[in-house]
Amino acid sequence: MTTSSPLYESLERAAEQGGDLYPQVYARFFAACPSAEPLMWHMDPLMRARMMDEVINLLLLEDTEGEITLVEFEAHSHQGSGVSAEMFKVLFEAIRDTLRVCLGADWTGGYEAAWQARIDQLACAFNGQYPEPKVA
Ligand code: HEM
Repeated sequence: MTTSSPLYESLERAAEQGGDLYPQVYARFFAACPSAEPLMWHMDPLMRARMMDEVINLLLLEDTEGEITLVEFEAHSHQGSGVSAEMFKVLFEAIRDTLRVCLGADWTGGYEAAWQARIDQLACAFNGQYPEPKVA
């Protein structure tokens, strides 16, 4: 993803404010999806941070073939950990919502639209990797 993309820009502006956003993202994720929390009890902060780095990388990825490969890999490896198709979308929304709160008045309609489009697209891709695809 180019450094001028709305997703990248919103992440960069939030990062400029300092502080670690990942704990907020996980707190929002677990509040919205309580069944996800026990699946991650064994993951320490470093492991959770490595996972979130990968989630952000995927969200920003512009390489379509690389994206398909990564979605296939993560969907299949996570199915083995009990992760449902719906949880991916909830996690992406938790990232978007955390950024929206963090940026406050600096959050724009362009960021909102770009995040919604990307979340819908990736959620659909993950749904397609599950045996019984569900509506995103
Ligand atoms: C695009 C979305 C996601 C990506 C790219 C991703 C990526 C990763 C990565 C890279 C790891 C390994 C971390 C490490 O040890 O270095 C991991 C582990 C894990 N992730 Fe995710 N993750 C995603 C979504 C989710 C969701 C929605 C859940 C729901 C609870 C989840 C649950 C887990 C669990 C339980 C593990 C630990 C698996 C184990 O014990 O081996 N992940 N994830």
